[in-house]
Amino acid sequence: MIHKEDIDKIFEAARIEEVVGDYVTLKKRGVNLIGLCPFHDEKTPSFYVSPAKGIYKCFGCGKGGHSVNFVMEKELMSYPDALRQLAKKYNIEIVEEEQSPEQLQSQNDRESLFVVSSFAQKHFTENLYNTDEGKSVGLGYFKERGFRDDIIQKFQLGYNLNHRSAFTDIAIATGYKLEYLVKAGLTIEYKNEEKHTDASTEIDTPPPVKQEAKLLDRFWGRVMFPIHNATGRVIAFGGRTLRTDKKVAKYINSPETDIYHKSDVLYGIFFAKKEIIHQDNCFLVEGYTDVISMHQAGIENVVASSGTSLTVGQIKLIRRFTNNITILYDGDSAGIKASFRGIDLILEEGMNVKVLLFPDGEDPDSYSKRVSNEELKNFIKENSKDFISFKTNLLMADVKNDPIKKAELIKEIVQSIALIPEAIYRSVYVKECSRIMDMDEQILLSELNKIRNKRFNEKSNSPAQTPENNNYEAAIAVEQKKEEAIVSTDHQERKIIELLINYGDKIIMVDSEDNEGRPIQVESNIAHLIIAELTHDNIVLDNAVYKNVYNEFVTQLDNNKIPDSKYFLNHEDNAISLLTIDLISSPYALANWERHSIYTNMEEDDLKKSALKALYTLKSRRLEIMVHDVEKKMKASTTDDEIIKLQQVKHQLDIAKVSINAFLGRIIVK
Ligand code: CTP
Ligand code: MN
Repeated sequence: MIHKEDIDKIFEAARIEEVVGDYVTLKKRGVNLIGLCPFHDEKTPSFYVSPAKGIYKCFGCGKGGHSVNFVMEKELMSYPDALRQLAKKYNIEIVEEEQSPEQLQSQNDRESLFVVSSFAQKHFTENLYNTDEGKSVGLGYFKERGFRDDIIQKFQLGYNLNHRSAFTDIAIATGYKLEYLVKAGLTIEYKNEEKHTDASTEIDTPPPVKQEAKLLDRFWGRVMFPIHNATGRVIAFGGRTLRTDKKVAKYINSPETDIYHKSDVLYGIFFAKKEIIHQDNCFLVEGYTDVISMHQAGIENVVASSGTSLTVGQIKLIRRFTNNITILYDGDSAGIKASFRGIDLILEEGMNVKVLLFPDGEDPDSYSKRVSNEELKNFIKENSKDFISFKTNLLMADVKNDPIKKAELIKEIVQSIALIPEAIYRSVYVKECSRIMDMDEQILLSELNKIRNKRFNEKSNSPAQTPENNNYEAAIAVEQKKEEAIVSTDHQERKIIELLINYGDKIIMVDSEDNEGRPIQVESNIAHLIIAELTHDNIVLDNAVYKNVYNEFVTQLDNNKIPDSKYFLNHEDNAISLLTIDLISSPYALANWERHSIYTNMEEDDLKKSALKALYTLKSRRLEIMVHDVEKKMKASTTDDEIIKLQQVKHQLDIAKVSINAFLGRIIVK
């Protein structure tokens, strides 16, 4: 842990123009600097650096951040590592917080696992090149498969001898602790004490002698594929047998260990991440050899979920580098099934997915060996399909002129669309589906809402919310309205946070009373106004990031401080920092970037009006949602008593709504 004071020092020292200047040639443009974006290919500069704001922003690809973000993105580093690198550059000494003995121990344990894994990798590679068996069997096998030397070395492939404990014996003799060899999954310890004694044992036979445990290699007589984590350290292995009989498993993989959580690891991610960012796309294949062959063919943005079916953790790992995934699977029925599952998982994470199936029986490995690199690239480019076309093409053959089958296909597609978290993207895909399937958009939308409604109810698991058949459509309408209302609330919450971050400390006059209760005007500021208004009505922000920002204002105001945009820009919570960048560099603010004064000089009156408008729009929307809720409850009520009570509540809400809307009207026309 790096101390907060040191982090502040680093932020202060690391001038954005200098940090970026190490990578990008910057030219002055007004008070800003511009250059060619280092994150995407471009010929005319759309990458801006604002020394005054301490941030960069590319108006082409949207990337933006402060100096630490820049190093993180450019060097693919974690937040603390980027801080350490900048501290070094600016000669800032950092004191890292001391760790507890348990933390140290667990860190040491993990470190030991890394160390034995690295030793094992080197040993297996050594076998491949410097033993007769390794050369003839292991290296011979890789050569026969057409793997080039540079590729074998890049992926640190290896071989373990055909002897039950070759590796373990050497590791122990070299001084590695058995405990870690076992924990790393390299050695298996067979305890022999429970060994069966002969059934005819006589009564006076002494108990079985406690024999020494037997130590055996997990992998033997196999070619070895080390698995690296995202920073390039070896964390596990896959071992492929060279035998062709079906008696042994083709691959044996390391078990779960403290450094290898299968569901969060992708084979090849370390070698792929740079190119994934550059191409803004990640190819997902099935096996080790597919990753390696694609590299050999010059395609490096490729990873495999080897050994497990695709998991959410693996998708999130990819999302650190891109929002776009192309699934490249074998076209057999297992591959099709796996890609259907993959599509849904990826969509559910809010990412874009394309699919390409290789001809049945071929995988990227075999296909890449048959064609030239150019042909492979073209093949992928021309045959990758968005998920709707993919499903349609695949299932269309069955459909032909069968209307029932067509309906099933549409349902199948809409099921997938319904998983997409963002309404805007859902509606884009509904349009696309409506076009391809020649189907009325409204019907698709209604089907989509039905599915989402059903899932929503299943998730909230409350039978009371299951709409009855007769008012099914009405229930959907309410659900839709509610969803719209929530979306709009998010918008209003964002507006409020934008005002807080940009203008929280700006002085305004607000209405108050003197000691005798006469109306007077007193000096206040935007942050006070916003917090007082929201507190007064017990309004809590829904969006977690906005809420965190808001709560910081509340705490700091208690200490008579008002945090500014710089504070949030350099916030340790990356979500807050990214939000701030967006709020202070929205596309429409581009004009302001070019002007001399960075912050728009909003008149005090306008500012106050904007704040009140944002506050009262939020209040009005919230009331609407409450009214909907009450109406829904009224429909579900069974006793008159209950209905009367709810009617009273609704009446109160309606009154409040009228007065808030009237106030809102006055602000807007003023
Ligand atoms: N796999 C596994 N255990 C098996 C079979 C497969 O863990 N018994 C995993 C491996 O990670 C493998 C992937 O599933 O890379 C894909 O399997 P497959 O296509 O059979 O293997 P390939 O990588 O294509 O290997 P090869 O080309 O040598 O057959
Ligand atoms: Mn294969």
